Formats: sequence, C-alpha cells, structure tokens
Amino acid sequence: MINSKQLINMINLAKECNLCAMSFFRQLDNTQVIFKKDESPLTKADIEVNKIAINGLKKIFPNISIVSEELESSHNFLENDKPFWLVDPIDGTKEFINKNPNFTVNFALIKNNLPVFGLIAQPFTDTIWYSFGGKAWKIEKDYKIEKSEQIQCSKINYNKISTFSSSSHRSKELEDWITLVKPQKDINIGSSIKFCHLAEGKADLYPRTSPTMEWDIAAGHSILKAAGGNVYCDAGLEMRYGKVNFKNTNFLAFGKTPYLPPKFLLFLNKHDVDKYENDLVQAKSELLKQNLVAFPTETVYGLGAIGSSKKAIKSIYTAKRRPSNNPLIAHTFSKKEAEKYIEFTEIANVLANNFWPGPLTIVGQTKKNKISNILSQGKSTLAIRVPSHPLAMDLIKRVNIPILAPSANLSGGVSPTKAEHVKKDFGPHFKGKGWTLSKILDYETSYVGIESTVVDCRGEKPIILRHGYITKEMISEILETEVLDPNDDELISPGLLKSHYSPKADVFLDQKISMENAGWLTFGNTPKSLQKNKNLFNLSPSKNLFQACCLLYSGLRYLDSKGVKNIQVMPIPNIGIGVAINDRLQRASCKL
Ligand code: TXA
Ligand code: MG
Repeated sequence: MINSKQLINMINLAKECNLCAMSFFRQLDNTQVIFKKDESPLTKADIEVNKIAINGLKKIFPNISIVSEELESSHNFLENDKPFWLVDPIDGTKEFINKNPNFTVNFALIKNNLPVFGLIAQPFTDTIWYSFGGKAWKIEKDYKIEKSEQIQCSKINYNKISTFSSSSHRSKELEDWITLVKPQKDINIGSSIKFCHLAEGKADLYPRTSPTMEWDIAAGHSILKAAGGNVYCDAGLEMRYGKVNFKNTNFLAFGKTPYLPPKFLLFLNKHDVDKYENDLVQAKSELLKQNLVAFPTETVYGLGAIGSSKKAIKSIYTAKRRPSNNPLIAHTFSKKEAEKYIEFTEIANVLANNFWPGPLTIVGQTKKNKISNILSQGKSTLAIRVPSHPLAMDLIKRVNIPILAPSANLSGGVSPTKAEHVKKDFGPHFKGKGWTLSKILDYETSYVGIESTVVDCRGEKPIILRHGYITKEMISEILETEVLDPNDDELISPGLLKSHYSPKADVFLDQKISMENAGWLTFGNTPKSLQKNKNLFNLSPSKNLFQACCLLYSGLRYLDSKGVKNIQVMPIPNIGIGVAINDRLQRASCKL
C-alpha cells in the first residue's frame, strides 16, 4: 500500500505526465507516429511520458520494480510474487493520434497479483481518478489532493443496463452476450476511461473479448474495485496480474451488485464450446439409449438421464444410492419449454424472467401430461431449472426432452465441481447393477460452485427450500415481497436433509485454534500459526465470497484426499452468498 505523502507525489507525477502528453497532443502531426512490432502505433509522446513516469516512480518508490508498456526490457520481469508497478504511459494512442481526447496515463501497484493502488489521468481534461484507503476518488481541473471527491458505482439495475460493449471488432461471443443481456444503452468510448465511468456510476458493465494487456486495465480495476465494482475473468474469478507475457484473458468489468447473473459471465469461456461437438453428439446418443451422462452446469456437475424414460430415471437412484423419496430437478433449455411441465404462478414468472438461465430452481404444480408425469415421478410438484452453462444448454437443446439431473456425486457426499470429482465417485468402472455412466463431458470448473437455489413458487409468497447463489435478499428485492423459510414439520423438500454435502472428515465451523491432525479451510490471509500446515486450502485469499463459493467443494474434497481426521473452517461472513456457503458447511459438519 502507499502512504499519503507518496500519494501526493504520485498526483504530482501524473500532472507532469499530463503536461508532457498535452504538449505533444497540441502540436501533433503524423510524422511522429511509428509502428511497433505488433503494428500498434507509437508516438513521441508515449516515449517521453514513459521516461517521466519511470523516473518519477523510481524516485518515489526506489525499491519497487516497474513493468511498462513502452519499456520492452521490463516485459521479461518474472518476480510477480513481489510487488511491482504496471505502467501504461498513454493508453489510447489511436485516440491520441486521431485527436480524440480520450487517452489516459495509467499507474497500478500490484501486490499478491492484485492491484492495491491505481491512478488514471486524463491529460485533455486535467482529471485524475485514483484509489486510496479502500475508496475511489476523482480530482478535476486541479492537482490538489484536498479537492478530491469520492466516487462510487451505482447499483446495477438489471432492467436498465448500460454497457461498453461496442468495439471495432465485435466477437461472436460478444454478440451472443448482447442478445442475452439486452443492454438499453451502449456507450462507445476508448481507453481506460471506461473503468472511470463505471466507477462513477455512469455505466454498469464492460465486457471485453478482444485482447488487452495487464497495464491497460490494472489501474482501472483498482479504482473500480474501490468504488464498489470489480473485474472478473474466466471461471468467474477476480482478474489477477503477473500472468504469462502480461496478457489478459476475456473479462467483465462491472459496477455495484450483490450478485452477477452467471449468464453475464458466459462469454468469458464460451469460445471453446465448438471443440465439444463430438462429445455432445455422443452424449446425446447415450442419453437416448437410456444411459447416464454427466455434464457440467454453472453450479455443479449433473448426473443426467433422459426425462422420458422411467428406466433411465431409476438408474440415477441406483448409481447415486439416493433415497427414492428424494425427487429430481428437470433441466430445460428455456422458460417456454418449462411451461409445458409446470404451472407458472405470478412469482414463478417474475423469478424465471429475472434469473433464468441461471442457478435457480422453481418448484411448481405439475401439469397433467405424459412427460410431466414421468418427470415428476407421479408427484403433484416438479422442480425445473434452465441452466446457464453453454455446454449444458447445448446438450439439453439437442436432446429436446428435459434432462433429469441431480448433482453427480454419491448421495450425502460432497457435490462435484470438476469432471475429476465425478470420475472419483463413479469410477473406475462407471457401471453397476442397473446403471451405466457412459459419458462424462469434461469442461472447466463450475463457476458458481454450489447447487442452485430451490424456491417453491406455488403460493403467493416464495419459500426457499435450498439456499444458493441467488440469495433470499435478491428474490425478495425482485418480487417486492417477503420470502419464507421452509416449515420444519412438513419437509417439503426431502433433499433438505440436515446432514448432507459431507466429506469423510469431521467438519468444524468458525475455528480459530488448531486441533491435532486437522486440515484447514481458510478465508482471507492465512494466520501465521497455520502457515506451516501442509493440509490447508485457502478458499479466497482476497476474501472474495464468489471465489470461496466456487472453490468450496474442491477444498473439502482436497482435504479429504489428504486423509485428515478433522476439517477446521475459518469464519466466513454470513452475508450475500456467504449464507449459502455457511448453509452447506453447516450440513457438512452435521453427522447423524
Ligand atoms: O444446481 C443444481 O440444482 C444441480 C445441477 C446439476 O442442476 N442439481 C442438484 O440436484 O443439486 P440435487 O438432486 O442434488 O438436488 C435437488 C434438490 C433436492 O434438495 C431435492 O429435494 C429438491 O431439489 N427437489 C427436487 N424436486 C423437488 C420437488 N418437487 N419439491 C421440492 N424439492 C424438490
Ligand atoms: Mg445433491
């Protein structure tokens, strides 16, 4: 972190960079433009501002290494475990050359692979944005720190989204994303200024699929995070820095929100679905043969059977050793499809419109028709979900009949978030008396990481049967009504067993002091006393609940594989999706 004196020096340095950039901007002619190896343009301004930036940083922080876009030798820097600066002396050189004022100077200090300080200066308007003391600030037309104004993201209104999704080359993923998200407004603006606008609440989302480098976004990331937003990359995790060649993967920068609909993150890894064509053809054919197929969803991996075959459905129960009174969730590819099988009440409509595709399961009254009757196994209620995972969606669409799927683990155990978890539970033979698991679609880690929220929508008020990524607060906010908890005497959802999701080891919550022969699930900084413990799994060093959620089951499974007798879990805040994480841990800790 940096102190107030260093901050003042940084602001003065930004001022110097701004003045230099402007002196070139005013007198610019095209003879000053040369092209780099990668064919990107470079001007004298880039070179001169770079010199000022590097010399300035060396004076203020003599011991911290600097990686700059315009200092080629620094691109070999490998000590990313130590703090380092990422500098882009002029982001938006193309804008600069075209006399467009949206070019910026960028400084970011990286520690533990995350930006802990960021400063963006816009020379043309004499504006500076920066993060300091966990907050985001802006100074206009002046370089006096006392004139700084705090800025904050506005809360994303999902019915009225504004984005920065226009770019000169829109990828197929971005096109698909726009169709799903349906932004009301799309703003076209160059350079890292986009992050500043998000941080000031002028827009909600900035998806990016065309290539970027770390120095282009790290300062913006830091400012945005301090203003209440964040930047997520593949697998729905926060963007990290110090990667190979300083290249970023696709990302989504977003303003303030208690959750991110997983469909918003789809584009981050959707591009490789084409590679699965053969696997999908096989998966469909095995399902039609009434065999089981495991497939990834955004929550956890599912153990799928075709919803029109009683025999296939029965084999799920045998394979999982699941009690026969615990009904299954039907997965459809659209709400319209789901409407064929259950009655949609008013609240079911609103929830489906807001959270589908996504990690929400709706329990409704079963409609009277042949397929509904098989799906619900003759029961008067049926649970349905439209998953948002690209592979799951594709598979369900191909089969064109709902797929019934519980989590692909042995009943009572820890759910799977990776194909290898499924292999461990059902291998090495993948068949038994009355069941065959003939295909496992092996995709990446499920990016939500815990099972869907299950909501009974039959009445006027929703009843949460299982907590999940979509929290009680979100549901109540969208419906503007109270959300009820299930009544303990009548167990509407047989799956809500007190003991569930259990690893082999005993699980202890809210732990502070180490027991003997225990493994640890930590959250935030690892306490000094535990640093030598080899059986330790950190759910999120940066205290990010989304990350903790994503890694929870991998953590429990990892510690089990180490053969520890006890698993101690550090306290995890019981807010937002922390409620669902604690709910799962509570059940995991309960031995009956
Ligand atoms: O995220 C998920 O929901 C995953 C993925 C694969 O989609 N599926 C999943 O399924 O977690 P499963 O079977 O492990 O959990 C389904 C839960 C159980 O708690 C079950 O009791 C409840 O949903 N459920 C299913 N049908 C129900 C019904 N008709 N009424 C009440 N609860 C029901
Ligand atoms: Mg399950």
